Amino acid sequence: MQPRLADRIRQRSESVRTRMLDIAAGLDDVIALGRGDPDLSTPGHIVEAGRRALADGATHYTHPMGLPALREAIGRHLAEVDGLDYAVDEIVVTTGAQEAVFAAMLACINPGDEVIVPAPGYTSYDQAIELAGGVPVAVPTYERDDFALTAAAVEAKVGSRTRMLCLLNPSNPTGAVTPPGEVEALAALAAKHDLVVISDEIYSRLVYEGAKVLPLASLPGMKERTITINGFSKAYAMTGWRVGYFAAPPGLVKALTEVHHGLTICAPAVSQHAALAALCGSQACVEEMRRIYDERRLVMCRALDAMGLSYGRPQGAFYVYANVSSTGLAASEFCVRLLEEARVMIFPGSLFGDHTDDFLRISLLQPVTRIKEAVERMAETVAAASGR
Ligand SMILES: Cc1ncc(COP(=O)(O)O)c(C=O)c1O
Repeated sequence: MQPRLADRIRQRSESVRTRMLDIAAGLDDVIALGRGDPDLSTPGHIVEAGRRALADGATHYTHPMGLPALREAIGRHLAEVDGLDYAVDEIVVTTGAQEAVFAAMLACINPGDEVIVPAPGYTSYDQAIELAGGVPVAVPTYERDDFALTAAAVEAKVGSRTRMLCLLNPSNPTGAVTPPGEVEALAALAAKHDLVVISDEIYSRLVYEGAKVLPLASLPGMKERTITINGFSKAYAMTGWRVGYFAAPPGLVKALTEVHHGLTICAPAVSQHAALAALCGSQACVEEMRRIYDERRLVMCRALDAMGLSYGRPQGAFYVYANVSSTGLAASEFCVRLLEEARVMIFPGSLFGDHTDDFLRISLLQPVTRIKEAVERMAETVAAASGR
């Protein structure tokens, strides 16, 4: 019997991912460059704070908005690092940034409302929009712009039903940092068309080559219409702790907090204590991890150059979005061959809402020795596919 599903559930074709996971299950020594989960461990002092918190009884619900001490620390951090001015009661701790995305959509989107999302992008946004009854409207970004979102491309998609704009800065899957001038132009556009903006800055501390993320809510008049989303998963390698946050003006905070309470009540207490230690302790661990990702990024970019594959130069996050069309294969087919022939697991851009099948997202989440081995194996597949 086929269980009956709600109309809002659209069965996505995840066939490439499923096919690849099935193939990988039968192979040894696969180098996984597919997932977005850091291979580096949560720094020891953060783990220790979690351990202590458990021993001290942090095993209950907290206030739905989060521990006051953590919200204060987040407020200080946003002020010092991002130049953002949020009061403690404008900050809510969530069960990962992911939950903040869903709470934002459920609180702000009516059936039929349009929400602008960059493509390729982080497809959980599309899912959240659709669950809220909204319609994701994809704005393409291009390799020639290093996949930066441009205000001109967004404006072309704004219509009478547009309610919200989502900015992922830096971007998953491309690592693009939106240039500050474009962030300013996007802010002006949002004000002109009265849009709420989500500014997802979860990778903002992982930037390279002197790139600067301009926090949208720091621009004049923008705090009132912005939901700033951030978290601990990426900067502190804390994906499994499930702790993130949003900051928003009072009118939005109330509504989003109601949804957040309905979804998860509060973020895990133990993880909130660990997150507090992350913010209050030395930030040298973030810089150390950033430096490691940067080294891997340069190794990967040089290897792609040597293979004759182009890519958008990533200035943030820990991904490289590479173009394999010169091999003559569609990216989804290339990924399957790469797995079968070279035992390297990389997912095609089609899993990130890309309208072409030319790109793949390479995660830099293996030690540099494994990345070097992966690119050696990959070079053979590229050569074979290209008939070189
Ligand atoms: C752009 C973006 N936002 C949000 C998330 C979710 O992060 P969290 O682990 O904090 O829920 C991710 C995870 O990959 C992401 O890439």
